[in-house]
Parts: sequence; structure tokens; C-alpha cells
Amino acid sequence: MNKSEADMRAPTTADRFSFGLWTVGRRGRDPFGDPTRPELDAVDAVHRLAELGAYGLTFHDDDLFPFHASAGERERRIDRFRRALAETGLVVPMVTTNLTAHPVFKDGGFTSNDRSVRRFALRKVLRNVELAAELGARTYVLWGGREGAEYDSAKDVLAALDRYRESLNLLTQFVIERGYDLRFAIEPKPNEPRGDILLPTVGHALAFITTLEHPDLVGVNPEVGHEQMAGLNFTHGIAQALWQGKLFHIDLNGQRGIKYDQDLVFGHGDLFNAFALVDLLENGGIDGAPAYGGPRHFDFKPSRTEDMAGVWDSAAANMRNYLLLKERTAGFRADPEVRQALSGSGVLDLRVPTLAAGERATDLLTDPLAADFDADKAGERGYGFVRLNQLALEHLLGLRGR
Ligand code: GCO
Ligand code: MN
Ligand code: MN
Repeated sequence: MNKSEADMRAPTTADRFSFGLWTVGRRGRDPFGDPTRPELDAVDAVHRLAELGAYGLTFHDDDLFPFHASAGERERRIDRFRRALAETGLVVPMVTTNLTAHPVFKDGGFTSNDRSVRRFALRKVLRNVELAAELGARTYVLWGGREGAEYDSAKDVLAALDRYRESLNLLTQFVIERGYDLRFAIEPKPNEPRGDILLPTVGHALAFITTLEHPDLVGVNPEVGHEQMAGLNFTHGIAQALWQGKLFHIDLNGQRGIKYDQDLVFGHGDLFNAFALVDLLENGGIDGAPAYGGPRHFDFKPSRTEDMAGVWDSAAANMRNYLLLKERTAGFRADPEVRQALSGSGVLDLRVPTLAAGERATDLLTDPLAADFDADKAGERGYGFVRLNQLALEHLLGLRGR
């Protein structure tokens, strides 16, 4: 590898890579076993991630200060953290709330059957929104991991959606009143920890947002593994979120098929879909410009088998894999054979409107050329999608475009 290639693959702040404090800080506890790693100090996380080339760190309130922290303890922890940020230049692009861990949230936060819990959950979020704004975050993620049920008779879903909406309306009203430059991003997930979670997919969340008082302030934060747990095509979900102007944030990681939420390193799951995703994010905008300008945020869990060295290797691998895929997709887009295959497959023709300017249904019905259209002939066309996909695979494997 020559030097310019090495440079290209070294993450810099311009790549806008960010990590959740809970990712590198994960101690490896799972439903079957105890932690395998020591606690990680938030200040150390800031320094290590800055050294590795990340630009941002995100957190839940409870990642930074304990659930029962006194006001003084809370301030002390925030101060240390703020100082580490200033020392390294790392920023906080997104903040979120833990409405999952404490037993009080066992039946949800915003949609708990217990009204006093719902009010407590909202206060917890409001308090942390104030901190997010203070630290300059632009996105506030709402992941409703406990908003759901195991039993159909246990949750009035219509009422739960009313309460969800009521909460979002309060939160958006709050940022407007305070003049905060902050938008909310709903993170869908089909299940885990609840048997069924409300707003389970990108599509459900997008539809829900249209019912809100300030829909412009609410978008989505889709996670690779969450859509793939439901057998859905993540890249398609991202494409629709972009198309609707709702991709406010993204959680990148890896997942292998329909099973529990694996949170593997980005690229260590469905690699082909990861290639398509990076291609979309980096080259899918108008005239090949990036389609998404926000943080490339990794929400992965360093595997329980790893020690602290393995944690930092895993963090670095996320960024490296993203950059390797970015390099491969650039080669894919620049390859004349790919361009030819794309045009042969009609991919570029899909941008042409189906109707002529001003054409109406009656015009279409009476189109003079309609009589000449030979459906049988058109049905004989081969689209050449397999050849196109093979070219993608060869770029992905580094066999072409280098
Ligand atoms: C998960 C989720 C969380 C959220 C986080 C941000 O499956 O555990 O992905 O990691 O992203 O809580 O709100
Ligand atoms: Mn996850
Ligand atoms: Mn996530």
C-alpha cells in the first residue's frame, strides 16, 4: 500500500465519525453472563476516540452520570467531560436518554401504562435536552426500547401512540420555546428488549411523524441491524428516509440475519448491503454528491470476547471499513464498464418522468403511440442486473477499479 492510500484510509475529523459512549464503554454483560471488561472512564473514551480519528462522542444521560447522581455529582462529571472535549476538540453531535435500564421503565417511558412513570420519563428527557443544547448537540435521539409489550392484551396500542405523540409534541414545543437548534430523531427497532416495540421500522416511524404538531423537527435515526432483524433492506429504508428529507442521523453497525440484535462492527454483517449503503450515502446525491451530510455514527457492541485492546481495535475497524467501502464505491462509480452496465440496465432511465410535462390521464389513454407498443416484445427484454451486481461484487472484493 503506498502512502496516499494509507492517508486515504486514516480517519480524520472531516469524515465525521462518531461513537456512543455506551459502545466502547460496554463491559460485555449479556443475559447469560457477567461483565468481562473493566469500567471505562468517559474522559479516557474521549481521548482514545480522538486519537483514533473520530470527531464526535454521543451519550445517554446515565452513561455520563449515575441514575441517582446528586446535582453536585452530575455537574462534576459533566465538567470533567467538558474539559476533555475542549482538550481534544471532540464534539457532541447527538445526545439521547436512557429510558430502558432502570426498573421503573419496565413497561416503557412515554407509553408506560403508569401515568406517573410517563411524567417521570418526560422530565428525564427534558432535563437531558437542556444539557444536549448546552453542549451544542444538533440531534436528540429517541430510542423507545421499552415502549412495547410482550402480550397483545397488555397494551392499548392506539392509546400508546396517542401518548407517544403527546410526548413528541411536548418535546418539540420545548425546543421551540427555548430557541434550541435541536431536532429529534426516532430510532426504530422491531423487538428486544420488548417482545414487540412500537414504531418497529423506519416506515412506521415516518408515518407516525406525519401526525405530529411539528413534523419538521422530527426525523429518524435508523440502525443497520434493527431493520435487518426484521428481514428488511436497510439501504432501501435509508433511501426512503432521504427521499422524505428525514434522515437526521444514522446508527451504523453489522448484523447477520434475523436474530437478536448483534451490533457487530460495521461491515462485519451483511457486507453487500453495507457497500450499497455507503454508495448511497457517499455518491447517491444529485450528480454523485453525498446524499447525507450528518455524522457517521457507530452504535456497535465490542464483543464480550474482547479485552480493552480489542475494544479499540473494534472501534478503529468500524471507521476503516467505512473508508474502505467508500474507496470501493468510488471505484465502482468511476468504472466505464459499470456506467455502461447501469445504462444498459435502465437504471438511469428511471429518472425520466413517466408522463410528459402537463400530460393527463386522458392524454395517456389516447396516446397515439399506444397502439404501437408491443408488450410481448418489451417483455422479452433482459435487464442485465446480474452482470451489474457481479461488477459491484468485483469492486467490493477489490478486483476492479484499483
Ligand atoms: C439498542 C439501540 C441503542 C440506541 C441508543 C440511543 O439496540 O440498544 O440501538 O443503542 O441506539 O440507546 O438511544
Ligand atoms: Mn442495536
Ligand atoms: Mn442504536
